[in-house]
Amino acid sequence: MAKKYHSILVLNGPNLNLLGTREPEIYGSTTLKQIEVSLISHGKTIGLEVAFRQSNHEGQLIDWLQEAAIKHAAVILNAGAYTHSSIALHDAIKSIAIPVIEVHLSNPHARERFRHRSYLSPVVKGVICGFGAHGYTLALEAAARIVKS
Ligand code: DQA
Repeated sequence: MAKKYHSILVLNGPNLNLLGTREPEIYGSTTLKQIEVSLISHGKTIGLEVAFRQSNHEGQLIDWLQEAAIKHAAVILNAGAYTHSSIALHDAIKSIAIPVIEVHLSNPHARERFRHRSYLSPVVKGVICGFGAHGYTLALEAAARIVKS
């Protein structure tokens, strides 16, 4: 296994398994699998191992966040709609010592009012939103900079 400081965990929350067919006018036509393949490949070119996961369950995401502190150097997190509701995810991020980067394909601030509040933004290292699937690559670049500094 790659050393902890070379490994980035990418976590995806509810409904992101449907990317490609889910509201493509908002989220684009790239599937989650394509994002995963692209990130793993990009990770190799910049010396990072990428572990990529998705769950529709809040508790599973929390378990993975807690484990991440042992195995990974940083987390890229698209928590989907839990972004706007989950104090539990907020607390989990606060509880771990490694940096978390929040990602959204869409720009939630340009959408419905209920998407304007993120419970995660106050406790993450930074937020990338509105750039579609490319946002994950931008987040990986940001993670690389943090991990290597
Ligand atoms: C999302 C934005 C959220 O508001 C929404 O609930 C999602 C996807 C995004 O990637 O744009 O499921 O996180």
